[in-house]
Amino acid sequence: MSRIERITKDKQIIAVVCNQVGDTGKGKITDILAASWADIIARGTGGNNAGHTVVINGKQRIFHLLPSGIVYSNQGKTSILGNGMVIDLRVLCGELDELDREETSYNNLMISEDAHVIMPYHIERDKAKNESQKKGGIGSTGRGIGPCYTDKIARRGIFIRDLFYTYKLVEKIKKATEFYPDIKISVEQIVEELKPYAERIKPFVRDTISEMHKSVRMGKKILLEGAQGLLLSIEFGTYPYVTSSDCSINGTAAGVGLSARAVDLPLGIVKFPYMTRVGAGPFPTEFGGRDSEVYCADGLEHNVNFELEHYRIPFKLINGELKYDHHHLKILELMNSDNPFLQGVGIRLAGAEYGATTKRPRRTGWTDLVALKYAIGINGPDIVLTKVDVLQGAEQIKLARRYTYAHSESVDNFTRKDEALRYMDPIYNIFEGFSEDISQIRDHKDLPSGLQQAIKFLETHVNGRVRMISTGPEQKQVIIK
Ligand code: IMP
Repeated sequence: MSRIERITKDKQIIAVVCNQVGDTGKGKITDILAASWADIIARGTGGNNAGHTVVINGKQRIFHLLPSGIVYSNQGKTSILGNGMVIDLRVLCGELDELDREETSYNNLMISEDAHVIMPYHIERDKAKNESQKKGGIGSTGRGIGPCYTDKIARRGIFIRDLFYTYKLVEKIKKATEFYPDIKISVEQIVEELKPYAERIKPFVRDTISEMHKSVRMGKKILLEGAQGLLLSIEFGTYPYVTSSDCSINGTAAGVGLSARAVDLPLGIVKFPYMTRVGAGPFPTEFGGRDSEVYCADGLEHNVNFELEHYRIPFKLINGELKYDHHHLKILELMNSDNPFLQGVGIRLAGAEYGATTKRPRRTGWTDLVALKYAIGINGPDIVLTKVDVLQGAEQIKLARRYTYAHSESVDNFTRKDEALRYMDPIYNIFEGFSEDISQIRDHKDLPSGLQQAIKFLETHVNGRVRMISTGPEQKQVIIK
């Protein structure tokens, strides 16, 4: 039995969802399962607010809309953009162009006729509303996601299938002018702009819900690729600092035409032993607390170039890509600093924690087990730990096991109430750090003892089962437990 079969044996539908605030490395885990197991890879929620990074044969690719399994089309695998998604046609066609340039086939792509279309006025509204996170905006990705889902819920959204009936499209855009009085909408211009994109995707548009049901009956192996994370879910996240879809196992399954009950194995991804958040919203374990939140809200002003220059860390630009030693002595010094803000900067640099979609610096903090226990209550007990190699050189590892509320009451239940969550102070369990390179380890018993103890503690504390541990960006850098 291959290593991965220990996980996939007897499974027909596996979902990869995130148990934190997104950016946990779902792309890599999906990629492993897409390459070695799945027949079908389907996405059910969100749009190009996501950025799924995969490293294949040393080359990094970032997908925003297409499921990352698209690179296996030439092996006859099917990729589906599901009914729960919101699709920016220009971005989708751009990703298809890129596949054309790389001569990667995508004959087996299916786009749900029931997915919704992100219109130019959605993007304009989103950007205007979120002009400044510092002025109280939630810091969205500015891709029009929120306004598009708003129109869907208000029953005036535009389906992919509407693109092929001009009268319907015109009627719906005309109606939109009522709801976007502040935005100049030229119906004819939008229809003309959408036409070539619509023609381009037409061969791939299907009733994907029926296709999905057929595939289930045929016994095909189906991989659901989640987007964002549980704490960003409109249903379960830290509202209003959330995205506009339900990115839990429920929304992910519904978004491809299935029930969560149909999923044999939901795998919840957890960045460990640190985690990140982009955009505004409560983050109890954040290094440097409010100072870090405000600093990261400056977005591109504090991007990776700025931080490398500011902290005098040498870097090179190779083919437009920034290269630096993630374990450079200066980064380790920051990571082990007594100043929590600097510690956060060090971990951000060590983990290259800058948005795949927006390039914004991600806020960093220790992994929060109170929040994880809550996430497991929804997404189930099976967990994958990712980016575990990043903290090589950290003298200590901490995991938040409880909070104290307003310096007195001890709390071990997660709360979605923003005003309360902002006053929670984490209580940590401390474990010994590690200095060795763990990226080649394939058996968890060979991990440094501090890490092993921290993993054991996590499992017991949240009542979860760690199934895989990712120790580097490449597919093979993974421990199957
Ligand atoms: P929206 O999804 O663009 O509406 O943004 C809403 C919130 O979700 C913002 O705080 C974003 O930073 C966050 N967000 C959206 N997509 C992602 C993602 O893929 N990873 C992490 N955060 C995300």
